[in-house]
Amino acid sequence: MSATLTAQAATRPGTREPVGIAIDTTFDDTSVAILRGRRELLANLTLSQYRDHAEFGGVVPERASRKHLEVIHPLLARALAQAGLGFGDLDYVAVSNLPGLLGSILVGLSVAKTLAYALGKPLIGINHIEAHPYANFLVHGELPFPLVHLVAAGGHTLLIHQHEHFRWEVIGRSVDDAAGECVDKVAKLFGHAMPGGPAVDALAMTHRPGPYAFPRPLLNDPGLDFSFSGLKTALLYFRRGQTGPIEEGPVLAAFFEAVVEVLVTKTLRAARRQGVSAVTVSGGLAASRRLRLAFERACAEAGLTLYYPPPALCTDNAAMVACLAAYRHAAGLHDDLALDGYANLSV
Ligand code: KG4
Ligand code: ZN
Repeated sequence: MSATLTAQAATRPGTREPVGIAIDTTFDDTSVAILRGRRELLANLTLSQYRDHAEFGGVVPERASRKHLEVIHPLLARALAQAGLGFGDLDYVAVSNLPGLLGSILVGLSVAKTLAYALGKPLIGINHIEAHPYANFLVHGELPFPLVHLVAAGGHTLLIHQHEHFRWEVIGRSVDDAAGECVDKVAKLFGHAMPGGPAVDALAMTHRPGPYAFPRPLLNDPGLDFSFSGLKTALLYFRRGQTGPIEEGPVLAAFFEAVVEVLVTKTLRAARRQGVSAVTVSGGLAASRRLRLAFERACAEAGLTLYYPPPALCTDNAAMVACLAAYRHAAGLHDDLALDGYANLSV
């Protein structure tokens, strides 16, 4: 299997705090993390499948499940070795059981259930979307509730209002494409490999938008929902309408500026409406330097505190899953072995 392996580990002298293992196979990344307490990350390994799907131009669900199956056991062994622990040292087993590709989720879920049963330890089901903002709790510590979270990932663009741990609601969502999906599709239109977000971000950091201006869908709509498919179509028609060479840098910078402006404006509107004093940004798009700069500026102006995780914890990872699981474990929120997997967020 061709794959990119990103690893992060940090060890501090042992404590008596519980140690949990977390598995995330919701989409096309296989990820395993081991966490002591709520913040001591002992291992965080992610195998990305992007190259395995390149020939198809997008993730093929059946292939994704098979790839998860190929690597999940070696990855578990490697994570334990990196943490210097054995299975017997684990106090609970966490797994993302929604939302995502059901076949992929079932791989992680089956492994997690087997582990929990064999070890006689609690199983904890985690909502992958709820977990994204926990990359911030992991690195920044306890954050001041209430909070507004923007989760801007490849498959989801959501605004979440969180009152306290485990109590939150979605207050805005994309009515069509997610922002990341839109960025990836436009990048592909310009010949960039999947995922195209980093390439578009790099161009947006080095070019000015010039004379190009693209639509900001729903920007002036008072609601908190997003729409990105019209913007993608605008780029498609723009590209088709160009007869001469295209100034790729300024065009993609202008496109990304539209995406960023919508995300920042709606997040700040949500913060104002909910009366919160802090916002977090997470999900793959939060790794964008251009997006971070725009958020930093806008939040400073609005007097809001801004939190975002390091890039490796913005894209899919099991460390954020482990962090949310640690909070659930401490609160005694465990699941039984009948835990199911779900493709959709709303179950
Ligand atoms: O959170 P994520 O890894 O996967 C999902 O949960 O869907 O997000 C993937 C998305 C892709 O659209 C990818 O292009 C984008 O995040 N992305 C970036 C960057 N790194 C990943 N977009 C802009 N700049 C980046 N540095
Ligand atoms: Zn995600």
